[in-house]
Amino acid sequence: MLKIVSILIFMMLLLNAKELTDPAVIFQKKCQMCHALNSPSNDAELKSMAAPYMPLAMKSVVTGIDAIEEPKNNQELKTLTVAHIKDYIFNPSAEKSFCEDIIFEKFRYMPPLGRFISKEEATIVAPWVYDNFAPIKYKVD
Ligand code: HEC
Repeated sequence: MLKIVSILIFMMLLLNAKELTDPAVIFQKKCQMCHALNSPSNDAELKSMAAPYMPLAMKSVVTGIDAIEEPKNNQELKTLTVAHIKDYIFNPSAEKSFCEDIIFEKFRYMPPLGRFISKEEATIVAPWVYDNFAPIKYKVD
């Protein structure tokens, strides 16, 4: 919990930063302090994790949406997933999350990021998150 609080304080310090347009930079500045790009490669990395690493979170989200919404193809799946991510950034909740209970036991919840990221930035980063972290078989060319 303390970890999340110090991350939030760090985020507040960035509040006045100007609008970002590069999705990789948005992710790096606004998501990566909690979501690592890859699975942890040693104990120290494992202990410092504040959230599921991104490919793990995306595996739950994409397979969950695929099972529940039954999209016709990967493009439609991407559209549904991007909408979910955009909403989740501002209104996260245990009911909406596709993460397993163990994730909530370990990391608690994702805080709403509304004061820290703009709607435009969320719109730019959400499709990039899909393209870079969705399981390979769901990739859209
Ligand atoms: C302060 C830490 C923190 C930050 C910053 C953060 N997240 Fe999260 N996020 C979490 C935690 C913890 C979870 C797992 C629990 C949950 O689903 O709420 C999570 C879960 C998620 C999920 C899975 C949602 C689901 O339906 O299962 C997605 C997608 C996600 N985050 C995307 C993002 C994106 C994109 C950003 C940057 C704009 C971001 N997060 C920034 C902590 C964070």
